[in-house]
Amino acid sequence: TTSPTEALAKSKLAKQKEKRQRTITSSLESMYPNLDVLHMKSIKSLHVMLRDKRSSHAQFKHYADRLMRILAEEALAACAVERCTVWTATGAEYSGMRPNNNVCVVSIVRAGDSLLDAVLHCSPNLAVGKILIQRNETTVEKSPVLFYTKLPPRIATYDRVLIVDPMLATGGSANMAIQTVLQAGVEESNIIFANVVACPEGIRAIFAAHPNVTIVTAAVDQELNESKYIVPGLGDYGDRYYDTT
Ligand code: URA
Repeated sequence: TTSPTEALAKSKLAKQKEKRQRTITSSLESMYPNLDVLHMKSIKSLHVMLRDKRSSHAQFKHYADRLMRILAEEALAACAVERCTVWTATGAEYSGMRPNNNVCVVSIVRAGDSLLDAVLHCSPNLAVGKILIQRNETTVEKSPVLFYTKLPPRIATYDRVLIVDPMLATGGSANMAIQTVLQAGVEESNIIFANVVACPEGIRAIFAAHPNVTIVTAAVDQELNESKYIVPGLGDYGDRYYDTT
């Protein structure tokens, strides 16, 4: 059992850690204007459940789906291009950005498919592309390898291309996916990359190569460990979501 003094010291340490993380996040936010970190209370508490290693597969999927629904709405809001004014039932005017359906969602298979589903729940008729990239687990760098690409032939005609992958670790797969979409004729400033957990290394890698891309993320974690997993992170997202651990 933990004594009250130990409990107090533990909670103080946790608060200090959280504060340090907030400082890292806000310095990245001021350095990169195209970085959109979501700071809602709902997201933070869903993250607690996701990251708990004791969460069962059913619990992980339940909380991930709830979190991704919020993230999907925010990522779609970032795809809006048209300001409009409507009349309300009280005869007054109300202005804002109109939801945009001229968007292509590109999933980095397999983990990206879970976020793709959340986006399609919000907006079912969007065009979809798929990219399969896997880390080469036999090399130290875990360098990404592109296995498969299927994009809509006129992908460059959409207002925005939303690339989805829950974990932004080294940025290797993300940059490869962005490069693939650019080669298909899409403008860099029309690309939005959405993820559940990012880390400073991945964010820096994307903006170093593609400064005009927008990143929408539900969390920025501390760092990568020697196995290139995000810390504190949540482990392997795909394995936990699809129960293949
Ligand atoms: N992919 C994951 O699923 N988890 C990480 O921490 C990094 C990459």
